[in-house]
Amino acid sequence: MYYSMSQQSKQRIEEKIAELKRQQVLEAVEHIIEFNSTPSELKKEMDKFVIGQEKGKKIIATAIAFHYKRLGTALKEAVIQKGEDIDEVLKTTRTPKANILIVGPTGCGKTYTAEIASMLVGVPFAVEDLTKFSEVGYVGMETGDILVDLLIAADGNSHVAQMGIVYLDEIDKILTETLAFKDVSGKGVQKGLLKLVEGMDNIVKMGKERIHLSTKHVLFIAGGVFEDIESIVKKRMAKQGLLGNWKDHLMAEDLVKFGMERQLMGRFPVKVVYDQLTIQDLKDIMTKSEDSPLKAYVNDLKAWDIDLVLTDDALTEISRRAEQEGTGARGLTSILHRVLFEDMYSLPGNYTGELVMDEMYVRSRLR
Ligand SMILES: Nc1ncnc2c1ncn2[C@@H]1O[C@H](COP(=O)(O)OP(=O)(O)OP(=O)(O)O)[C@@H](O)[C@H]1O
Ligand SMILES: [Mg+2]
Repeated sequence: MYYSMSQQSKQRIEEKIAELKRQQVLEAVEHIIEFNSTPSELKKEMDKFVIGQEKGKKIIATAIAFHYKRLGTALKEAVIQKGEDIDEVLKTTRTPKANILIVGPTGCGKTYTAEIASMLVGVPFAVEDLTKFSEVGYVGMETGDILVDLLIAADGNSHVAQMGIVYLDEIDKILTETLAFKDVSGKGVQKGLLKLVEGMDNIVKMGKERIHLSTKHVLFIAGGVFEDIESIVKKRMAKQGLLGNWKDHLMAEDLVKFGMERQLMGRFPVKVVYDQLTIQDLKDIMTKSEDSPLKAYVNDLKAWDIDLVLTDDALTEISRRAEQEGTGARGLTSILHRVLFEDMYSLPGNYTGELVMDEMYVRSRLR
């Protein structure tokens, strides 16, 4: 059946959608206004997911709790003054931004921390792989595409998107030098990012619609391995006669020496260095993290009435092997899969009850 909608019906639907969108915005603003986690409360929540990285989590939890408390307070004042005109409220609200840079080895929880934090705060989250970006969109994407991703993460609601978190992955790969591709320079990408990160008004064109989207309140968290940055920091510390852990001394000028644009690095005032995960951390990720890959396998097998139990020795052996892989916590998933695969294939339907694995068992599976 083909139903041709009357102008009146169309208008009613449009009004309903507009009303729902407005409701969604009000709820999102209310949510930020009500944000009331202290840094230590936020960190405690993060601890349930992100293992280790104690100092880093402290710094990040503080920056994020302050950012949203500041935004919430400013929004509240603006609402009192301007009423429910959220557009106006967001435009006039001024909040100094404390964007965060996380430096650390692969698979140690940089992206994961940002993702968990946005989930805990309850704001949209977008991850951007910067290696895909170029100044002119020549080899992939333009910085403007980040806004589209954020908009999608916010279910198309531009006001909600403006309060979200964007994670810029592999920021260390967009060095100042020109890349191998013609027309593509890391410098250009860094310049594009600079505007976005410090907060700018943008128009995103989607079909006929022009959506206003400012990044003024968006919190940017950038992450990268920054291979060998340690030696740059240590060299400077030696020159300046500074003592202590290099991780507490990372400065913008070290990152500039590495090849980053000074202006861009200046837009990330909060700098955090994450640690390589230890065998104990990897063990804790399996036994304590809410997102433990082991817990996932245990639950999967439970569905077939198989109770998987790994002895402490077995967990140590798996962590040791994962550490050797050098891919951080990512190694756990692949090692666990190698250990469990045969049983996952053959036992369902043929066996129920306890399935205990010890170190010897793990070793035999990993031979
Ligand atoms: N500290 C941690 N605590 C709990 N789980 C972790 C931790 N670090 C990593 N993981 C697990 O490993 C996965 C990969 O980590 P993540 O994506 O955060 O790595 P990364 O530090 O961003 O690495 P890369 O530099 O390669 O992007 C996460 O999704 C998470 O499941
Ligand atoms: Mg990452």
